[in-house]
Amino acid sequence: MLYRKLLFQERAQFRAHLKRLSANDRCFRFAHSRVDDQWIDKYVDGIAADDMILGCFDGDVLVGAAHIAFAGTVAEMGISVDPACRIKGIGTELTRRAVRWTRNRRAERLYTLCQSDNRSMLGLARKLGMTIHRECGTAEAFLPLPPPDLFTVGDEIGAEMDGLAQDWLDTVRACQQALLPKS
Ligand SMILES: CC(C)(COP(=O)(O)OP(=O)(O)OC[C@H]1O[C@@H](n2cnc3c(N)ncnc32)[C@H](O)[C@@H]1OP(=O)(O)O)[C@@H](O)C(=O)NCCC(=O)NCCS
Repeated sequence: MLYRKLLFQERAQFRAHLKRLSANDRCFRFAHSRVDDQWIDKYVDGIAADDMILGCFDGDVLVGAAHIAFAGTVAEMGISVDPACRIKGIGTELTRRAVRWTRNRRAERLYTLCQSDNRSMLGLARKLGMTIHRECGTAEAFLPLPPPDLFTVGDEIGAEMDGLAQDWLDTVRACQQALLPKS
């Protein structure tokens, strides 16, 4: 699995990933009851250029993503993983990276909203030490974020270099295959 930030021009992959979610998952992801394809199109079109979408790729396919948007010093995160790839730690890894990325941008709290019967998200939030407030069918999870330090900065730079190197190797392999005679 390759974890890296999505480029602006890769947002179509994010759109396709969200559209692969079932009606129930869409409801969990957006804490909203009627999320059809048009709703997803509007959501993706409305993502600000400086929001961050952190992706997990299996080969060329985006199988998990965390969208992070800032409201002052609060970083709001929405996360989703393809059903076939769940309970393998992808949600945890995306959230850990989101924590590091938001700390490095001096966010003071990570926030996520979900439905109060969303057991997987609440399990993930508890595992990461988030504080959960339930109210009227929804649950808000907060994580206070310490300021950045040398480790968070060094880790982010290292992780990005790793992502770029893996991406580059995939490109080289694909180009080598392209030059081989067709069998
Ligand atoms: C929530 C979601 C992102 C979790 O992704 P994931 O890759 O399966 O998560 P992980 O494998 O890292 O699991 C993390 C923890 O979540 C909890 N968890 C995951 N699935 C669970 C389930 N079905 N029931 C209970 N707890 C669950 C566990 O505590 C798990 O930790 P553990 O395996 O060490 O016990 C995924 O289920 C999903 O995409 N759901 C639909 C969209 C959504 O609900 N998004 C959240 C709202 S923004």
